[in-house]
Amino acid sequence: MTTEELCRKAVAMIEMAYAPYSHFRVGAAVECDDGAVFTGCNIENAAFTPTNCAERTAIFKAVSEGHRRFRRIAVAAETEDFTAPCGVCRQVMMEFSPDMDVLMVNCRGDVKTVPLRQLLPYGFDSASLPANP
Ligand code: THU
Repeated sequence: MTTEELCRKAVAMIEMAYAPYSHFRVGAAVECDDGAVFTGCNIENAAFTPTNCAERTAIFKAVSEGHRRFRRIAVAAETEDFTAPCGVCRQVMMEFSPDMDVLMVNCRGDVKTVPLRQLLPYGFDSASLPANP
């Protein structure tokens, strides 16, 4: 899939966002290493804490379907500024694909690409844990 197609999928997912509290709608599309693409949107909750970001929705959909390696994820919001993934989403990405890229898409369709390792330096991963006995 081209970068433009992946970004368009992320933008389209903005319409699916459930964001009655923040009114900040986000869409995402993650591309797996075999080319499969899974999409997601943010899903808020009156209790706030259970809110799920668009990136995690897309990644959890992919993982639940057997995909664990990702090349890149596109994240789209309706702002002029590029929306960077929150810390929790960066950590979830790190778990599966530390070398993936994050593509941020703004309301004009401009795209900024940043490697995950740059967004989460010194990330905690399975190698950080002591070996199991
Ligand atoms: N949000 C995302 O879905 N992705 C991001 O990268 C940043 C934040 C959502 C969470 C919440 O529903 C709303 O945006 C405001 O924080």
